[in-house]
Amino acid sequence: MNYLKITDVHAREILDSRGNPTIEAEVTVDERYTGRASVPSGASTGMFEAVELRDADVKDDDRDSCGYQTRYYGKGVLQAVKNVNTEIKKCLLGRNALEQALIDHMLCTLDGTPNKGRLGANAILAVSMACARAAAKSYGLPLYMYLGGAQSHQMPVPMMNILNGGVHASNNIDFQEFMIMPTSADSFAEGLRIGTEVYHALKKILASENKVTAVGDEGGFAPDLKDSFEVFEYLTKAVKKAGYTPGKDVVFAMDAAASELYQKDAGMYYFPNESRSPSGDTKGIMRSTEELIELYEKLCEKYPLKSIEDGLYEEDWDGFKKLTKRLGDTIQLVGDDLFVTNTERLNKGIENGAANAILIKVNQIGTLTEATEAVRCAQKAGFRCVLSHRSGETEDTIIADLAVALNAGQIKTGAPCRTDRTAKYNRLLRIEEELHYSAEYKNPFSRH
Ligand code: PGA
Ligand code: ZN
Repeated sequence: MNYLKITDVHAREILDSRGNPTIEAEVTVDERYTGRASVPSGASTGMFEAVELRDADVKDDDRDSCGYQTRYYGKGVLQAVKNVNTEIKKCLLGRNALEQALIDHMLCTLDGTPNKGRLGANAILAVSMACARAAAKSYGLPLYMYLGGAQSHQMPVPMMNILNGGVHASNNIDFQEFMIMPTSADSFAEGLRIGTEVYHALKKILASENKVTAVGDEGGFAPDLKDSFEVFEYLTKAVKKAGYTPGKDVVFAMDAAASELYQKDAGMYYFPNESRSPSGDTKGIMRSTEELIELYEKLCEKYPLKSIEDGLYEEDWDGFKKLTKRLGDTIQLVGDDLFVTNTERLNKGIENGAANAILIKVNQIGTLTEATEAVRCAQKAGFRCVLSHRSGETEDTIIADLAVALNAGQIKTGAPCRTDRTAKYNRLLRIEEELHYSAEYKNPFSRH
């Protein structure tokens, strides 16, 4: 194997799309090629995710004397930056950047905790990704090709989150994300155009009814609407207004982010903004697991809803089994908080028939190698994969390259709005142009 010597490692604090600090790292190889990467951040984080180290969480004994715990309301990442610029740098200098798996393994060992809580998954991931970028650069290859080789030609179908709710917006919609997927297009560029036209059509409809057209964290609109049925009515209208057929050209997907709604004491899901009274004046209803599954069944009967993410609470394996039995033959059931890009948790899902697809978020697990392993493991078991952004993003487009490199088939990266979201779509447009005839775009739900 060739040797590509790591000659420098450097990190700094930058800002993400919500104005919160995050970490950016640079790895230099052979003193010539520098790869740079930055780390996103979630709002509805799963409880089994790798640990994002924030300065407010740094324990007294490890505190630096400069008192960074109060900067940025505690959200600073100076300790994570320091961990890269001292310990991680020392560990990696002189190592071979081509040995990504070994580098990632060394980073995990150096951290020494199961959840990367000592050095911070944010510190580790920034370096892991920057290392791959530096290596790709030294070969003069785009990242997707460096990582995936000649087999990488599958353009992902976008899951475009055009209506935001839950913790991503301040409207009254309790489920988190309502998405459209342009499945009938014959290229990524055409798919993106269709989805974007639907997005604009939705804006026109909302504006014509004097509804709010301000957007949420992922660029989708965030109007006040009665419930998920009403949301899908609007999406249906928007698809038609744009000149497409719901169920044929465009299908729907949603992220319930049900862990955010789950109340452990009651063992039920609380919808603070829905109402059972016809006048709508008494707000707040509880749903049992069974009632929630029935709601999903009804939504699937009425609308071309083909994918539901985190339909239930992240620890409810039995509930997920039940949900998968009931709906898994006809729709995609994605585990996000359920699997947290963790191969061990994914294997539990595969063995138990809980969900049939996985959301891949690199910062949930903390290294490129482990995220890749999760994709490979899912693909082997016949689980579908969706590469995903976080609600707090940066201008980094690595998930676009990863989606192609790993032939994931689907990508979730928000609405076609806000540069933090469109940067990923634009990167995919460039990749598709580069792949030219070998690029493939296909409906992930067709049986052929
Ligand atoms: P998050 O949301 O990035 O805020 O966790 C995205 C998701 O739940 O898929
Ligand atoms: Zn999710």
